[in-house]
Amino acid sequence: MNLKEIEDSARNELKAAVSREAVEKLRVKYLGRKGEITAVLRSLKDMPLEERRRVGPEAQSLRRDVERLINEKVSAIGSASSASGVDLTAPGRKVSRGHLHPLTLVDEEIRRIFKSMNFSVVEGPEVETEYYNFDALNIPPNHPAREMWDTFWLRQTRTDADGVHTHTKKSPRQSALLLRTHTSPMQIRYMEEHNPPFQIIVPGRTFRYEATDASHEINFYQLEGLMVGKSVSLANFKSVVQEFFKRFFGGQKIEFRYRPAYFPFVEPGLEVEIKLATSGPEKGLRPNGAGKRQGTWLEIMGAGMVHPRVFEFAHYNPRDWQGFAFGMGLDRLAMIKYKIPDIRLFYSGDLRFIRQF
Ligand code: PHE
Repeated sequence: MNLKEIEDSARNELKAAVSREAVEKLRVKYLGRKGEITAVLRSLKDMPLEERRRVGPEAQSLRRDVERLINEKVSAIGSASSASGVDLTAPGRKVSRGHLHPLTLVDEEIRRIFKSMNFSVVEGPEVETEYYNFDALNIPPNHPAREMWDTFWLRQTRTDADGVHTHTKKSPRQSALLLRTHTSPMQIRYMEEHNPPFQIIVPGRTFRYEATDASHEINFYQLEGLMVGKSVSLANFKSVVQEFFKRFFGGQKIEFRYRPAYFPFVEPGLEVEIKLATSGPEKGLRPNGAGKRQGTWLEIMGAGMVHPRVFEFAHYNPRDWQGFAFGMGLDRLAMIKYKIPDIRLFYSGDLRFIRQF
């Protein structure tokens, strides 16, 4: 190939090149160690003197021209891409994706597990009546068990024709309003409208009028469970909760302990305690007397067989049906799962906390 041909093909190919890589390939093709122009320059030494004098300067100038054309092309491609706002060589910028609150994560996980065990998920009102929160759960007025739940009572006002608000005393037939102290009122509400057999869970927000500390909040979340059928037993209950906790704690070894406890709406009533397998000493996880998380018994839920009186309130015949109910704190589950030492962190709105999940 003579110099003229080399020059023509170099110019044409450079014109057609659109990417940096393509231009770099041409640089190698013409100016590389085995490049076409380089080959001509190398062959000079074998040429007769006269030819060398003629070809030498031409080849040198072609080398400089092609080098210049290549550099121009490279910067043209560079400025074209930065003009369109895209610098393909810049390091990527990290996208902030936001985080789900740990209580949301736990709520989603719990729903997923119970759904896979054929439970339906239902929800109920946060503002409840005294009837559903207490009376129908076999906790009549003045029953000492009412002290188990410190209650936010709501003052009811009536707006009369002139827009004046007046506080009203509840009439005997009307039930006072309160913020539900547990999710158990949904047991009654659900049974009033559905026939057994069924199995449900009720996740939801609950309220207690209490002083707050590392393990108490006035606002927290509970999960209620209720399974009713012809012959639902405590043995069924045990297999359901054990399966649930096994899945929730991801196959960690768990021990279970059942202790008698009193709740007016179950008989017998019990408390479930779990012990997670020890995995060495855990520093900094001893919230306010609650003890370390692993290797100690943790009280995790209240439960029992539905009390016959509760079935009567829901207009079921207690001779026909039996069932189990349970209730547990979602916050506490989240604290154990994610090793969170203080319940108040959930409601702090502190982004440094949320970003860890
Ligand atoms: N509602 C009870 C509580 O909040 C928990 C519970 C639910 C106990 C169902 C027994 C059966 O303490």
